[in-house]
Amino acid sequence: MKEHVLITGGSRGIGAAAVRAFAEAGYRVSFLYLRSRDAAAALAAETGACGLCCDAADSDAVARAAASLPPVDVLVNNAGISHVGLISQISPEEWDRLFAVNVKSVYNSVRAVLPAMLQRQAGCIINVASMWGQAGASCEAAYSATKGAVIALTQALARELGPSGIRVNAVSPGMIDTDMNAHLSPADKAALAADTPLERIGRPEEVAEAMLYLARASFVTGQILPVNGGYL
Ligand code: NAI
Repeated sequence: MKEHVLITGGSRGIGAAAVRAFAEAGYRVSFLYLRSRDAAAALAAETGACGLCCDAADSDAVARAAASLPPVDVLVNNAGISHVGLISQISPEEWDRLFAVNVKSVYNSVRAVLPAMLQRQAGCIINVASMWGQAGASCEAAYSATKGAVIALTQALARELGPSGIRVNAVSPGMIDTDMNAHLSPADKAALAADTPLERIGRPEEVAEAMLYLARASFVTGQILPVNGGYL
């Protein structure tokens, strides 16, 4: 029987690349998305995946979505938002939303799929961190803090769930060419590329490839896999 992968934030960018990569690799794929209903429907038609509209930051909504799906073998916690600005410019509401979408969503989906994984004593969880969660980014302090939390959560869960046969890892992308970075000017992107040993920014498919590796890497857990062209 096909392994079932659930990907949060699958309608575009890295998540959509992951939907395509896992579908091509023979997985049964489900994904959650918040907006971009047309893009989600087109992706579902293209890949045969099942797309569910659901706010990953909403515990009850995620629990309902997961309950409507078959048991999950591989969970990819990809949904995320960014905030660019000085620490003095982020409002308390924006801070809370950032942590809700980037960190609490991981808890929400782990909570939803974990009972079935524990029952089977098997499972794989792949979180999406960021190189800014490792190094910290000026003008993205709150975002960096959320991704630092994702890294710590990944490492802690790997220790907690390893004895139950469940692996937990993260990919830690560098600058990837998605809508999340649409605010950057061509000059900004060129400057980031110039600081990267591979002299370019990354593609969503390259992050999806690393996720597929982690899904298959049966003796790898607790690792934060950099996908950043050598930037860090
Ligand atoms: P994107 O903005 O292109 O796509 C984000 C996806 O998450 C979309 O499908 C959106 O619908 C979904 N999403 C957002 N909030 C959601 C919510 N509350 N519930 C459900 N889905 C939600 O972003 P991108 O670049 O594809 O980012 C994906 C992940 O990769 C994020 O966690 C991001 O922080 C991380 N990342 C991205 C990098 C980049 O340079 N693009 C670098 C490092 C990490």
